Amino acid sequence: MKISVMGTGYVGLVTGATLSEAGNDIVCLDIVEDKINQLNKGESPIFEPGLDKLIKKGIAKGNLKGSTNIEQGIVESDITFICVGTPSKKDGSIDLNYIKNASSAIGRALRHKQDVHTIIVKSTVIPQTTENVVLPIISKKSGRKRENIGIGMNPEFLREGSAVKDALKPDRIVIGHADEVALNVLKEIYKDHDCPKLECNPRTAEFIKYASNAFLATKISFANEMANMCSIWGIDFKEVAEGMGMDSRISPQFLQAGAGFGGSCFPKDVKALAAAAKSDKIGSKILTATLEVNESQPKIVIGMTKERLGVLKGKKIAILGLTFKPETDDVRESRTEIVVKELVDEGAKVIGHDPEGIENFKKIIDIETSNTLNEVVKGADCLILMTEWKEYLEMDLKSLKERMNGNVIIDGRRALNPEKVKEAGFDYKSIGLG
Ligand code: UGA
Repeated sequence: MKISVMGTGYVGLVTGATLSEAGNDIVCLDIVEDKINQLNKGESPIFEPGLDKLIKKGIAKGNLKGSTNIEQGIVESDITFICVGTPSKKDGSIDLNYIKNASSAIGRALRHKQDVHTIIVKSTVIPQTTENVVLPIISKKSGRKRENIGIGMNPEFLREGSAVKDALKPDRIVIGHADEVALNVLKEIYKDHDCPKLECNPRTAEFIKYASNAFLATKISFANEMANMCSIWGIDFKEVAEGMGMDSRISPQFLQAGAGFGGSCFPKDVKALAAAAKSDKIGSKILTATLEVNESQPKIVIGMTKERLGVLKGKKIAILGLTFKPETDDVRESRTEIVVKELVDEGAKVIGHDPEGIENFKKIIDIETSNTLNEVVKGADCLILMTEWKEYLEMDLKSLKERMNGNVIIDGRRALNPEKVKEAGFDYKSIGLG
């Protein structure tokens, strides 16, 4: 099938590359020339395991290409996926400007084409956006009759770090469609995927995405609140989570307590859904609490550090982990940012380490960094683990301790083995550990 993909961010690139792998003809469209040039050289503009390989293959085979000629890309394809960003406004509500601009561009392009064209929204959008924003703009700008447009909503459930795998082997595919044209197109595109497929209307598809992210974020905040109780009552939440997870109705996933959730999706999506519910006068007590717990978790890390070190002014603190989770270079909404800001404000001397995220983190806060662990711990009074990179779980604690000035480790992810840390001579304090 001939498919154009609007937006070459993380969702657009993974969608384009995996659909080309499935044998479709893909053109990825973006206004940023650098990204398109990089793509056409067979390189991925973002760090995502497995993506480079798929892009290289698609470019070499000739069924994947990038273009800045949006109109031509749309006119020469039969289907357009909208994969542009949906950032938050200052009040947390969704900013639909990119969606509106993409819809206008599609509408204008469709004036130069006769055949039926199908538009599938993949961006995460508040319920009713596909039917009440995207479709009216495209209809108006193109001047087309409704029967000449196919319209659908097919949310993505990709996790950074395993997005290619998630796209090639998804748990489920949600086929939101407002007409038979979009239904048939989506059924054809995903015909070789043997996972469960749910057919529904676009607003249901839109909401499935939000409700899924909101549920997972709420599960994390719930785990964090339980973990905070464990800290007081002398219980290890890791064992509690293990016991809870043995119940198949609960599942062990997303019960890892720590400094809270970050990244480009959970914080933005929970805020957007809460704002939409508020503006439609339904409100959400649970989502408000989910966000509140998430904001307070980094403060617990600071509290534990103060409890161990006393006054932070002049203390050297090594931060292990700058990204919002392991296996990514993404630092957006990373909990580390909140912790580092607070430590710097208190007058501590902060030095950061991360296997992939140093460059991006320095664009937000320009702290001292090092990419060798031995360097970063030298003379430190305290280590704070903020991201559970494998490298940190396997570090040689004894030799690190010898290089330090103090002996405190604060585990903001309940990731280290308390016995081993104590054996190495450390004073260990962790979220969720009594
Ligand atoms: C998330 C969802 O998992 C995807 O299904 C969804 O498609 C994506 O958002 C999106 O909307 O695009 P992602 O943000 O890549 O994916 O990362 P996750 O692995 O879900 O982690 C999010 C945050 O939650 C991280 O900061 C992580 O450290 C934290 N987390 C996760 C916990 O604190 N505890 C856990 O048990 C799990």
